Amino acid sequence: MTGTPEAPVTAGQEQKTDGSAPSATQTTASARAGAAAGASLQELAKRHLWMHFTRMSGYEQQEVPIIARGEGCYVWDEHGKRYLDALSALFCVNIGHGRADIAQAGAEQAKELGFFTNWSYAHPPAIELAARVASLAPGDLNRVFFTSGGSEAVETAVKLARQYFKLTGRPNKTKLIAREIAYHGTSLGALSATGITELREPFEPLTPGASHVPATNSYRLPDGVDESYFAEAIAHRIEFEGPHTVAAVILEPIQNAGGCFTPPEGYFQRVREICDTYDVLLISDEVICAWGRLGEWFGAIRYDYEPDIITTAKALTSAYAPMGAVIATDRVAEPFMQGTNSFTHGFTFGGHPMCAAIAMANLDAFEREGILENVRQNEGRFREMLDSLRDIPIVGDVRGAGYFHALELVKHKETKESFSDEECETLLRGFLSGELFRRGLICRADDRGDPVVQLSPPLIAGPEQFEEMEEILRAVLTEASERMHVRDEAMEYHSHRG
Ligand SMILES: Cc1ncc(COP(=O)(O)O)c(C=O)c1O
Repeated sequence: MTGTPEAPVTAGQEQKTDGSAPSATQTTASARAGAAAGASLQELAKRHLWMHFTRMSGYEQQEVPIIARGEGCYVWDEHGKRYLDALSALFCVNIGHGRADIAQAGAEQAKELGFFTNWSYAHPPAIELAARVASLAPGDLNRVFFTSGGSEAVETAVKLARQYFKLTGRPNKTKLIAREIAYHGTSLGALSATGITELREPFEPLTPGASHVPATNSYRLPDGVDESYFAEAIAHRIEFEGPHTVAAVILEPIQNAGGCFTPPEGYFQRVREICDTYDVLLISDEVICAWGRLGEWFGAIRYDYEPDIITTAKALTSAYAPMGAVIATDRVAEPFMQGTNSFTHGFTFGGHPMCAAIAMANLDAFEREGILENVRQNEGRFREMLDSLRDIPIVGDVRGAGYFHALELVKHKETKESFSDEECETLLRGFLSGELFRRGLICRADDRGDPVVQLSPPLIAGPEQFEEMEEILRAVLTEASERMHVRDEAMEYHSHRG
């Protein structure tokens, strides 16, 4: 706001160059231009920009990281410093940065038809993209509903499941089962699926009917059970809730939050069986795991299961435009296609023609440039590099698949003891996040579960980028071990004896 006390007086004054008395709107406009001209981006960011999931006060004493340019696997900040973007700008820019050619498809589309809605109307880009997405999706997931992002996709899937059962004569099937620590978005319906207490609590009460089962954390498998426990927990929860009240189970192929929890062998096959037994829809939330992240078009293909609904977003356009999608099987879509029925749900921008054209150009580039093949060819080397870091005392576990991996950090390798909340604060926010960034690596140090460092580079990355990651990770994690007094007990034991 230009009227805030912090607005620089000089900036406003500088604008008044012709000596005339400006009108109220002119004053506001000129003060705005003045603020932009007179103040640095840093000052403007600190004063006006509300960053998401960000402790804004943290930037009172330090710079806001301002990323100004990107090309390939790299981005540059406002000072011209280069960073390896080993997070693909939040699992988004799968094709890499700087692809003006992909964005150009949006400009070309705008010449033809800049916008029209999918509310009662169709247009060529949405039709063509829907057909293409259906052709890439597994099984008979043939019906595509577009959204503007991932939360909207999850929100849509949850509503779709509820209305599906209303239309097919089972109106009490409304509940949703998700996994603890999983992130499924922030809108109130999607947030009810999200299993992260700190994100839920400030907004309670949430949409009712959601409950959570344990994530597939095989590294910390509870005593006395084997990995079949994870799928059976879903059956148990459905029984507990009453099968006639449960509409859907929502799961990511690999769960992001908590640090890339992979499914145990046979997990999704058993979950599919459970869902069929209890007539519950299986939603595969592939906001991250689709579009090559796991070396396939969809995570469900990698793990060989057929969900009833897929939710996706992010890399559908490689984030050159905001777009998401919900893909439903013929069975789920069918009741909505009959008589006077309709899915009474929509978003103005769903299927936006420019976004759809950009998605088509993105998928063209994926095919032309062998993006999936690059992941398949290189994921072994990526994993080898990460596994080589296990000799650092603080690295307890390495997990993931494709170009989607996490390192879990522990206090004691043998006991797998984790860090307390205060220690996580010191380790992650007090050291790791800042130090990795300072050394030129963008990745994610996260403690929504136990502390992890997540790595998810653009799908065009290869050995050169892995080497760069290794160098920085090794130095920073070794220093983190020392700072947190984590020692390799096995090595110490041997050296004492020696
Ligand atoms: C699995 C999953 N679902 C849903 C979302 C929400 O997507 P968005 O941030 O586009 O709303 C995310 C975001 O990261 C996600 O990872």
